[in-house]
Amino acid sequence: MKKVLSGIQPSGKLTLGNYIGAIKNFVALQHEYACNFMVVDLHAITVPQEPADLREQSEMVAALYVAAGIDPAKANIFMQSHVPQHAELGWLLTTMISMGELERMTQFKDKAAGKESVGTGLFIYPGLMVADILLYNADLVPVGEDQKQHLELTRDVAGRFNHRYGEYFTIPEPYIPEVGARIMSLDDASKKMSKSNPNAGSWIALLDEPAVIRKKISRATTDSGSEVKYDPANKPEVSNLITIYSQCAGLSIAEVEARYEGKMYGPFKKDLAEVVVGMLEPIQQRYRDIRESGEIRGILAQGAERAAETAEKTLKDVQHLMGFLAK
Ligand code: TYM
Repeated sequence: MKKVLSGIQPSGKLTLGNYIGAIKNFVALQHEYACNFMVVDLHAITVPQEPADLREQSEMVAALYVAAGIDPAKANIFMQSHVPQHAELGWLLTTMISMGELERMTQFKDKAAGKESVGTGLFIYPGLMVADILLYNADLVPVGEDQKQHLELTRDVAGRFNHRYGEYFTIPEPYIPEVGARIMSLDDASKKMSKSNPNAGSWIALLDEPAVIRKKISRATTDSGSEVKYDPANKPEVSNLITIYSQCAGLSIAEVEARYEGKMYGPFKKDLAEVVVGMLEPIQQRYRDIRESGEIRGILAQGAERAAETAEKTLKDVQHLMGFLAK
């Protein structure tokens, strides 16, 4: 069975962008692949985190995975830090990445921009991501558009390792959805929707109350025209809303356009809010049930145990191939 791996940082509330670009595909892929879905806490600490918040957000992301439809009996759901081989392989592979490669990473450039002091963790972060993926010899990595460059680095490092130490790693393929790989901010369609945007009106959190979602969508910026037409170059704001509609309602872009032919932005936005609320309500209900049941810790323990079997073997093999003396 082919293998899938992906992860999400517990660094704040998850957004509709995380759902459409990533989680929705995790749910779909679990039926055909052996899947590992992580909460990447070791990645989250590349920027400062309040300990209590980190703990809460970690459990929140894990519970949202299950609430969104990932079946813990089918896929391994676990905390990255519960499988220490991630950190160790991360170190081994980071030694094979050049400064120049890391300096070219746009996510690093964006996150470091304007900061006086930048942690080294933020700089070497892609090395850890490379290890996350290669530890399981993943064939496919479902991610949004913003992770594409990290995937390219992973492919390069896997090839470099195989060339130097002998064929060992699978060269992973990114799985980036054709529609929804880059959900944009509600107040500015030139920026991606992101939980780190201080304007909470620019993003929809998966756990936002229905009234909050309705308000955010009614206030979303729209272009000056009136036609509900998908045209990202000329109508980026409306095109983003059409994309969200299509992904939440399970319709194609053309079907959404046809539904609103001759109609104005007002009714379109009103319906969009109901589509988003309707999609999120059952997820939110399941989320509350899971948190109340307290079952998430057990799910994470089991997921880590199963993931560690593969991780342990890969790390041992890599250590051997690189010339480390066995214990
Ligand atoms: P993170 O936590 O920033 O985001 C998690 C996933 O959500 C996607 N995403 C979006 N997709 C569409 N539109 C958006 N506006 C949007 N915002 C976020 C991201 O592309 C991502 O797929 N480095 C990763 C986490 C990671 C990882 C890994 C991923 C660590 N190790 C191994 C895959 C495999 C990150 O920061 O994602």
